[in-house]
Amino acid sequence: MTSTAETAGGPQPGPAQTPHASGPEQPPVPDPFDRDVLPAPPHAARTLLASLLRPHKPRVAAAALLLLLQQAAVQAGPLLVAFAIDHAVPALRGEGGQSGQLLLAAVGLAYLFCALASGGLQYAFIVAAARVNQRVLLELRGRIYRHAQALDVDFHDRYTSGRLISRSTTDVGSLRELLDEGLQELLAVIVSVVYIVVTLLWLDPGLGIAALASFVPLALLVRNFQQRSARVYRGRSTAMAAVIVKFTETVGGIRAVQAFRRERANDEEFARLNGRHLKMNGDSLLEMARYVVTSRLTANIAVAAIVLWGAYRVAAQDLALGVLAAAALYLRRLYEPIDHLGMFLNSYQSAAASLEKIAGLLAQRPSVPEPSAPRALPPRGEGSGGREVVFDSVSFGYRTGDEVLPRFGLTLRAGRTVALVGATGAGKSTLVKLLARFYDPTGGRVLLDGVDLRDVDGSQLRRNVVMVTQEAFLFSGTVAENIAIGRPDATRTEIENTAKALGAHDFISGLPEGYDTDVRKRGGRISAGQRQLVAFARALLADPAVLILDEATSSLDIPGEQAVQQAMMTVLRGRTAVVIAHRLSTVEIADRVLVMEDGRLVEDGTPAQLIAGEGRFAGLHSAWRESLVQTHAPHHDQR
Ligand SMILES: Nc1ncnc2c1ncn2[C@@H]1O[C@H](COP(=O)(O)OP(=O)(O)OP(=O)(O)O)[C@@H](O)[C@H]1O
Ligand SMILES: [Mg+2]
Repeated sequence: MTSTAETAGGPQPGPAQTPHASGPEQPPVPDPFDRDVLPAPPHAARTLLASLLRPHKPRVAAAALLLLLQQAAVQAGPLLVAFAIDHAVPALRGEGGQSGQLLLAAVGLAYLFCALASGGLQYAFIVAAARVNQRVLLELRGRIYRHAQALDVDFHDRYTSGRLISRSTTDVGSLRELLDEGLQELLAVIVSVVYIVVTLLWLDPGLGIAALASFVPLALLVRNFQQRSARVYRGRSTAMAAVIVKFTETVGGIRAVQAFRRERANDEEFARLNGRHLKMNGDSLLEMARYVVTSRLTANIAVAAIVLWGAYRVAAQDLALGVLAAAALYLRRLYEPIDHLGMFLNSYQSAAASLEKIAGLLAQRPSVPEPSAPRALPPRGEGSGGREVVFDSVSFGYRTGDEVLPRFGLTLRAGRTVALVGATGAGKSTLVKLLARFYDPTGGRVLLDGVDLRDVDGSQLRRNVVMVTQEAFLFSGTVAENIAIGRPDATRTEIENTAKALGAHDFISGLPEGYDTDVRKRGGRISAGQRQLVAFARALLADPAVLILDEATSSLDIPGEQAVQQAMMTVLRGRTAVVIAHRLSTVEIADRVLVMEDGRLVEDGTPAQLIAGEGRFAGLHSAWRESLVQTHAPHHDQR
């Protein structure tokens, strides 16, 4: 035994300084437990939107031009009417009847042309805008997915899958609603307002100024509505996210829900969350109704006042009748979109709230960042096939709790198998998660063949360090595909040979479609133990330099224990391995045993040394021996 575990001192006073502090500063990650929504940095939503639109600049410009032209065609209508009333009709009545008819026909044709042009331009605009929208949404959903995959385990511990789902469904959905309906309408409204006001000012400055003046109360109404509904909307989407989180949690844990008869309690909780969402929704509808009624009333009063004033001026010969008719038509058009503006602000509010949340998610940086200047690992050792692992003055605590591992040093020699044992909650899984770099240590460094894990490129790290856990997660796809995940280029023969080496070939061949059986469709037919065998095969095929097994044999049956031992030996050969197991028969095949207690390594030696001693492991071992005598079972699960 050349290496020993030294457990140094108690908990460190204050946060331990990492020797790695030269790296870029981490942005402070807010505590999600006192906020439902992770706050985005200022302007994150706007920056995100800009970055999404940037690649589509030419198309956006084309759409804008189409819109300008289309609105020009639409707003020419009342002008033509005014011209017909004030010029064509008098000419028709007067002595030049011939030219009057010509004028009227020309106006009619112009009107028809404008109508056709506006239709065609609108079609082109909708198509152009929809293309941009579709691509923006596609890109956004892709970004959320890629980002969620890239973020560390620590983030996922806190954020929950339900919230992630709600980001890429509800939130992307409300953005889609805005882009598909609201935004085009708003742009059309803005352009039409500018056209109309300018035309009115040109036709008759008095009417134009009166129309402008009527915007003051309307603008106040809109502003008031916007402020009130912003609050309601944010609340509504938070409430919706809570509903989705509850739903996914229940469905995800349906076995536990049914086993513990949680249905009624869940129903009540769900009804409460659903009710909260309903109330928020009701509040937003009320705001909407209040707005529509007051804005419409204001607009109608404005139209009536302006037309009345215009009529007096026509009577006083101060205003042409055609101009008044055109003004009345324009005013109608001016105020008509006010209702829609409310709708638009609605979808704008919810889309803005959604975008803010998506931007907040996308702004999260992994707490185990990729190195900016990765260091290559030296070539894998010839003799042992494994790599040396050193925990150098490492200490660790989860972000949400106390220190779990007080400072310790530990060297794992290349090619050897170490068993980690200890009571539940001792910190075994935590220690190996540092080795797999699911988390970075709070203090000290973890070295792989002398290279700090923080300096190792992510994909190289994953090739070198593989962890198999109790869950043995299977992805949708066939058994063969699931085994090949560790090495996608593996041939069918290699896959089968790996399974044979583990004694998994027989059960796989026995499946309805053998290696091509879809694990999701046959989910029920693949037992927990068989899943673990598949996970083993995956790890063996990946052939990592360092292999971690965290309770990876816990579901394998006792009668198969001999086979399991055999499979373990096969998997562990030619690499550095850390095995966490409650089953002491598994521990016996290790070169070295480490006993953990409350985050400290309290015993260290070969299995034989520890059994011969007086320590905890000796105690555990003799208890295990006794239980074997009592049950007459040659191999008894110690759990
Ligand atoms: N994600 C987490 N966030 C906060 N605390 C955690 C987290 N995971 C584990 N802990 C805490 O860290 C301590 C060590 O947990 P760990 O999972 O390492 O124990 P273990 O030795 O693997 O136990 P077991 O044998 O039950 O798997 C426990 O007190 C646990 O509550
Ligand atoms: Mg554990």
